[in-house]
Amino acid sequence: MKQIETKDYQDMSRKAANIVFAQIIRKGNSILGLATGSTMLGLYEELVKMNQKGDLDFSRVSSVNLDEYLGLPAINPQSYRYYMNHNLFNHINIPLENTYLPDGTAVNPDEECRKYDERIHNMGGIDLQLLGLGLDGHIGFNEPGEVFTRETHCVTLDDSTIKANARFFENEDEVPKQAITMGIGCIMQARQVLLCVNGKAKASILKEVLYGPITPKVPGSILQLHPNLVVVADKEALFGL
Ligand code: F6R
Repeated sequence: MKQIETKDYQDMSRKAANIVFAQIIRKGNSILGLATGSTMLGLYEELVKMNQKGDLDFSRVSSVNLDEYLGLPAINPQSYRYYMNHNLFNHINIPLENTYLPDGTAVNPDEECRKYDERIHNMGGIDLQLLGLGLDGHIGFNEPGEVFTRETHCVTLDDSTIKANARFFENEDEVPKQAITMGIGCIMQARQVLLCVNGKAKASILKEVLYGPITPKVPGSILQLHPNLVVVADKEALFGL
């Protein structure tokens, strides 16, 4: 594991963006695994700047996102497809048809999960997977449980996750209770994983993830076994480490 401490959120975003930059320079047709949430916003802003300055070309890049709420169509501003289009894809030269998220409106969500894994497999797997960290230790929407689930699957979100994500909705009741998430298998098979964490609220869970026992009760703890994990975290999140 490589741990990079940054002075604040902006510094984290810049350093993480540089790692994505390096990946695309090394391999122009990289497959990026992408995430949503507040953690990623600064990083996406940096990537947009690099692209608009002409320093970074996304024309041959493809992407697969970690997750999507069940029941939200792409036009819903709370859907992760909407987030990705508005915060990244619409501002860079990635062909939109090469960007994939699970379809939250699929008539048969289990079938959608199976097809999603097949797609990632057929693309040749993920070169660089971006991850944020949930307050309960989730990665993607792999919530704490009794086992690590390998495949893409449907999940019921934890109360703490619903509460944490309520800030993006009018009220807590509007947060979808279910989502489709990439499983632990795909995440662990990514050739490189970039975990970004900021803020003091995540300090104790980050400590558990990186140095606690490896257990599905703390899903992110599996990352300790990844051969190429880079953690970029600000001082507050790394407090006590
Ligand atoms: C989002 C995702 C989640 C978030 C996590 C942290 O696609 O997969 O695991 O990364 O919930 O969210 P923020 O960054 O909003 O604290």
